[in-house]
Amino acid sequence: MVLKKLCCFEWMVLCHLLLAAFVSSKDHGNPANDLVGIINENRTAHKLPQLNDSPGLGCMALQYVELCKGNCTGNRAVNCKPPEDDFTEVFAPNCGVELPTFGTITGHIVGCEFKYLQPSEAFSHVIVKDNRTLSILRNKSHTEVGVGLVGLHKGPFFWCILFSNGQTNSTFVLEDQGKGIKQKKGCYSGSFFPCSGGQKISVLLNNIMTLVFLYIFLFLILHQNQFVMM
Ligand SMILES: *[C@@H]1O[C@H](CO)[C@@H](O)[C@H](O)[C@H]1NC(C)=O
Ligand SMILES: *[C@@H]1O[C@H](CO)[C@@H](O)[C@H](O)[C@H]1NC(C)=O
Ligand SMILES: *[C@@H]1O[C@H](CO)[C@@H](O)[C@H](O)[C@H]1NC(C)=O
Ligand SMILES: *[C@@H]1O[C@H](CO)[C@@H](O)[C@H](O)[C@H]1NC(C)=O
Ligand SMILES: *[C@@H]1O[C@H](CO)[C@@H](O)[C@H](O)[C@H]1NC(C)=O
Repeated sequence: MVLKKLCCFEWMVLCHLLLAAFVSSKDHGNPANDLVGIINENRTAHKLPQLNDSPGLGCMALQYVELCKGNCTGNRAVNCKPPEDDFTEVFAPNCGVELPTFGTITGHIVGCEFKYLQPSEAFSHVIVKDNRTLSILRNKSHTEVGVGLVGLHKGPFFWCILFSNGQTNSTFVLEDQGKGIKQKKGCYSGSFFPCSGGQKISVLLNNIMTLVFLYIFLFLILHQNQFVMM
């Protein structure tokens, strides 16, 4: 009976350790960069040119979802229409985009989901989920792309893709030698800084849970030894 219980706890500890390792490995990457890769793969598979990753666009995409993150409707749609002027008056200054380099935005896609999705799932289930968004993705005018994403501690999670027809390296240039201003939350493609917020809390929680289980496990082993000695 005791042995059976122990076995169960051993498995729990193992599962938690594995889960913690898995979650933290997921946290190290930048899912916004992964999405740019997926977008370019999809375009090249359809004989369209690759898009350049623009950190300036990416950071403004993050600002866009940061503003819209209260407005996730069912159906993975975002009910949010920031005023056009916000791009030059709010998003660009908050990111440190040099205003004289502000180019033309040729398309945008926004989506949300109540749980976190891996980049490939986010691409096919949230971002490019219908013919309208597919035609935006496949538009020949684009030359640059930027991806931003944000989630509250438990979600909903928001994704935004911005496209532009700007010249490489000369539009949406970030100040401070391309680093721009560090963002408090979320991820964006091409960022100099690592992602912040979002997933980190769940990693911390998982580590605490793992420790708790380890203590219970050790306690049981000690307890059992005492029992055997008596
Ligand atoms: C978010 O939704 C609310 C309620 O529908 C609306 O009043 C608000 O303007 C929306 N926010 C934005 C930035 O569009
Ligand atoms: C591509 O984007 C440009 C700029 O936004 C737009 O004028 C044009 O209609 C789009 N083309 C297609 C095929 O959707
Ligand atoms: C590109 O993405 C669309 C939308 O998710 C999908 O239907 C299509 O199969 C993808 N193409 C390739 C080559 O992966
Ligand atoms: C989307 O486009 C494809 C191919 O152009 C077409 O077969 C399909 O009916 C379209 N779907 C919708 C919902 O319009
Ligand atoms: C533009 O950026 C790319 C990659 O960031 C770099 O390899 C290239 O040399 C840059 N071009 C110019 C003209 O600065």
